[in-house]
Amino acid sequence: MLTAVRSRHEYEYAHIAVRRLSGTLGAEITGVDLARPMDAATFAEVLEAFHRHLVIVAPGQRIAPEQLVAFTERFGPVEGHPLGSRRGLEDHPQVMVLENRPGRLGPRNDFWHSDISYGETPPLGSVLYAVEVTEGRGDTMFCNMYAAYEGLSDGLKSMLDGMTALHSAEKLVQEVPNRLSVDVAPPAVEHPAVRTHPGTGRKALYVNPHYTIRFTGWTPEESRPLLDLLAVRATRPENVFRHHWRAGDVLMWDNRCVMHYAVRDYDDTMPRLMYRTTAAGDRPR
Ligand code: OGA
Ligand code: MN
Repeated sequence: MLTAVRSRHEYEYAHIAVRRLSGTLGAEITGVDLARPMDAATFAEVLEAFHRHLVIVAPGQRIAPEQLVAFTERFGPVEGHPLGSRRGLEDHPQVMVLENRPGRLGPRNDFWHSDISYGETPPLGSVLYAVEVTEGRGDTMFCNMYAAYEGLSDGLKSMLDGMTALHSAEKLVQEVPNRLSVDVAPPAVEHPAVRTHPGTGRKALYVNPHYTIRFTGWTPEESRPLLDLLAVRATRPENVFRHHWRAGDVLMWDNRCVMHYAVRDYDDTMPRLMYRTTAAGDRPR
């Protein structure tokens, strides 16, 4: 007999079905059709699943750009990229196109990061709609930053609780080829090293190895070993969910408590086309 056991601790949903995809984060939601307007009771459960699982995936969707925007808007206002790093769809400039095709390699995101943490008000979350995938290539990995914080010693947690860190787009600006609308990084911004999630009240580590340049009052040289240690702890295999894309997946991550990494195991002969939308967030506190 083949059995899939559901943990006794799972929340019961009435309008959607939710299937956990790893021990730490990620869940598949079914029973939603993003091509149709979603009623408030169903959205409340989607939001519940998002807060519990941090990354939600609705497979098998066939949606138009405006439906992707409408879904994203349930979470917060949809915004473009502040440095213009991605092409937008002609009729829907807030829908960013991540495209890899012959002769044109797609943008690199093969580093652990939280989107636009160098902004004053980084996004609440980002949504990717997989339009075209090459089977088995271009997975995306996610890690749980609540668990990363909770797993630290009390001593390190209390030190980090009182700290802030500077985040900068300088690495993005140095990238070649750089697709940005600016050629100097905007001034670095300061965010708490540990933030409290406005929707769950839980504390999450909020530094990342790509955009965080140093702790406030510390030199980059002093900061790097601690930033590296925190990145290693956050990205332990037990704390990571790796998503294998199928065309039709609509996946959303909570940028306030998740870092992500786009696996670069494809070349320009392996098409990958994603539409991305971004829901605006609050200033971290
Ligand atoms: C992004 C990003 C991941 C991916 O768009 O910010 O990191 O797998 N994308 O394309
Ligand atoms: Mn990203």
